[in-house]
Amino acid sequence: MDGALMTVEGLSVSYGDFRALHDISMRFDRGSIVSIIGSNGAGKSTLLNAVMGINRKLSGRVVFDGADITSMRTSAIVAKGVTMSPEGSSVFEDMSVHENLLMGAYLTNSRDKRARMTERAYGLFPALREKSGQLATFLSGGQRQMLAIARALMSDPKLLICDELSLGLAPVVVNDIYDRILDVNEEGVTIVLVEQEVKRSLEFSDYSYVLVKGRVVIEGRSDELSEDEVKDAYFGINKYA
Ligand SMILES: Nc1ncnc2c1ncn2[C@@H]1O[C@H](COP(=O)(O)OP(=O)(O)OP(=O)(O)O)[C@@H](O)[C@H]1O
Ligand SMILES: [Mg+2]
Repeated sequence: MDGALMTVEGLSVSYGDFRALHDISMRFDRGSIVSIIGSNGAGKSTLLNAVMGINRKLSGRVVFDGADITSMRTSAIVAKGVTMSPEGSSVFEDMSVHENLLMGAYLTNSRDKRARMTERAYGLFPALREKSGQLATFLSGGQRQMLAIARALMSDPKLLICDELSLGLAPVVVNDIYDRILDVNEEGVTIVLVEQEVKRSLEFSDYSYVLVKGRVVIEGRSDELSEDEVKDAYFGINKYA
């Protein structure tokens, strides 16, 4: 087996007559951090939802860890080792921080494992431990985002997908969360970062894909891509428009 933990092959998705994704192919190598960069409406969430089995694929395949997961249910995909922290730091508002974490481990029957994963989450984000008994609705924006990520990690994934984790947060808070993502990656978890912000995405990732109107228009090693070229594509002010 090669270095790919997951591949997306020729994926297309439509909403009625509107084609949101056109023949997308991507590769996510084991242990790497891959960013998917695109502006509002580029199709980022559509892609992630297709990978997670949340919306229907028109055509194409998703292969994870050697298995074709294209038509699997979301719970089966999570059980295989893929998880997503959704856009908008969405958490269960009327549950405590601790209960939110346990929701992320709903597929785990072992009490020991749940305890281990909870400890890992609190170790990663000590602010959450302090608030463990409080309702999630009282968390700050940054803490909410931490909780969304921590909850996703409770399923002990091999691949963690973060949909726009920096949205609406102060840069200093985002930096802190990104550093924790690096810690998770150090533990061997492959990371997919979906972002609108070009500079940070290139800095934090090994490989990047730029999505414009449902198509991959640029891809390459993040240290070899030029920020200006990516921004031109991203803002649609050149040949990709
Ligand atoms: N449920 C839906 N029904 C119809 N069209 C949709 C639906 N969801 C998304 N779209 C359309 O598909 C395209 C891609 O949307 P998507 O949400 O995947 O983009 P995105 O890159 O995640 O954007 P954002 O940065 O705003 O989250 C957009 O044109 C959007 O209007
Ligand atoms: Mg989105």
